[in-house]
Amino acid sequence: MGLLRIQNLMSNELAKRTFITRPPEPPYEFLLNDPTNSIFVGITKLFSIPFTWSYASLTNPHISVVGITGSGKSFFVKTFLTRASYVWNTNAIIIDWAGEYISWVRQSGGKVVSFSKGDYMNIMDLSGMKPIDRTKQVMNSLEILTDIGEYPEQRRLTEEAVEQAYVNAGFVLSMIPPPDSEAPTLKDVVSLLEEKQTDGTYAYPAELENAIYRLRQFSREGEDYFANKSTIDVGKLASSGLVDLDLSSLPDERFRALAALFILQTLKEKMRMEKWSPSAGLRTIVTLDEAWKVASDERSDAVTIIREGRKYSFGLIVASQNPTDINEAIFSNVGTTIMLRIRFERFMQYLQGSLNFSDFIRSEITKLGVGQAAVDMSFNTSVKFPNVFLLESVVGELPLDTYTITLTEILQPAEMSDPNVKKEYSFDRITLNSRLVENGLNSDSILGIFKKIGDQSRVIDIKQLVSMMSAEGVARDATVSFLRNIGISDTLISRIFTYQR
Ligand SMILES: Nc1ncnc2c1ncn2[C@@H]1O[C@H](COP(=O)(O)OP(=O)(O)OP(=O)(O)O)[C@@H](O)[C@H]1O
Ligand SMILES: [Mg+2]
Repeated sequence: MGLLRIQNLMSNELAKRTFITRPPEPPYEFLLNDPTNSIFVGITKLFSIPFTWSYASLTNPHISVVGITGSGKSFFVKTFLTRASYVWNTNAIIIDWAGEYISWVRQSGGKVVSFSKGDYMNIMDLSGMKPIDRTKQVMNSLEILTDIGEYPEQRRLTEEAVEQAYVNAGFVLSMIPPPDSEAPTLKDVVSLLEEKQTDGTYAYPAELENAIYRLRQFSREGEDYFANKSTIDVGKLASSGLVDLDLSSLPDERFRALAALFILQTLKEKMRMEKWSPSAGLRTIVTLDEAWKVASDERSDAVTIIREGRKYSFGLIVASQNPTDINEAIFSNVGTTIMLRIRFERFMQYLQGSLNFSDFIRSEITKLGVGQAAVDMSFNTSVKFPNVFLLESVVGELPLDTYTITLTEILQPAEMSDPNVKKEYSFDRITLNSRLVENGLNSDSILGIFKKIGDQSRVIDIKQLVSMMSAEGVARDATVSFLRNIGISDTLISRIFTYQR
């Protein structure tokens, strides 16, 4: 009896203490899943538990990833997709706005689909859909990307012409098309409107003129990526392993957004056509990285996939530097949010407001280094522990090579022979990367610097590093704070800059 009381007291006391000093993590049975049926992400900060992700206990399989540039969003995505493919044979499609996944996808044996000369994606392709449904989707994309919604008559003319183009090509609007039938293109739609113009009987020629003008933006020679017979079969991509849809060579944001919207529409249809199967893993994961125009509009099919994905084992990952660019409907419905380092107060406010974490977690998020994260999970049962916990780091597959900065060239002979003077500093890549990020270098500069250091067997003289940083456009203040940060004395720093001149 007495013993029991003491035990109770002690465990209460202990629980209270951990609670006061650090908020608890979800219990390990929520973090540690069967490794053959889950995805290892990293080690938790508090109890060093290997966090293996599974969506069995979550509201849905979708993930949002937020964090400043260079914080590790794409790194997380790559790590996650790689393991999902090992564990579940998951297909992955990356809608790659800036072309930043190209080399990784190639290295991983995946397929890169780019828009170079002669590559087309016909946005009127049916992929098994009824023409009447595809027409609605085409109109939906135009509404998101252009001002057509403000001009009902132009909208009506355009929609009518899209339907007419299908009819002229031999389709029945409300019938599932025969396989391998060839859809008309936006060029056919423009021609129909032009015929109407030549005909001259239509009562509002200005409306017609504007409707034609709007569509021509996407069907002009040289910019007709979406207005010709397809050379890229989007429908097939959902089951082709790892695929990078590189949108970076398209002329501008509108074209990229049109491609992304069309791809999402097609994938959503594919998803709905799949038969439900009670598999534990994910069949396909679609990744949207920095596609704010597509992620922020609630009419985009990113939202539909979020709502319906779970039952088809279909996951969506949305990554962004700016959480407010992710539509509420997406943000509040994902089962997992990976928060990497956040800088702006406004974004932090938004995250804390929607995910409801403690001020302790809030302050931890501002201090995260590269690859460190706070994770929010929405469990599908009510739980008595906080939903947000800290990850020591996202553990990737990259080799942890050592990078060495040598000081020998700026040290004087007496210093060289002094065993107390440090002659070189060594870092693993992630640490050096963190130091560079913390001192304000952007990820392009960092990649440039790593590339050059890599080219010389990862050893670099400090003066050379400093001149490299200045060549990358890094301000002197940032360089100085970086040098101080890695432990170089002010005396040596001023010596480095003296040599610089
Ligand atoms: N967990 C990690 N372990 C090791 N290296 C990492 C980790 N996270 C990020 N890095 C490295 O940090 C650099 C920046 O990461 P990443 O490209 O993922 O940033 P990002 O958040 O996608 O940035 P951006 O918004 O500019 O695209 C890369 O060189 C990457 O390899
Ligand atoms: Mg990125």
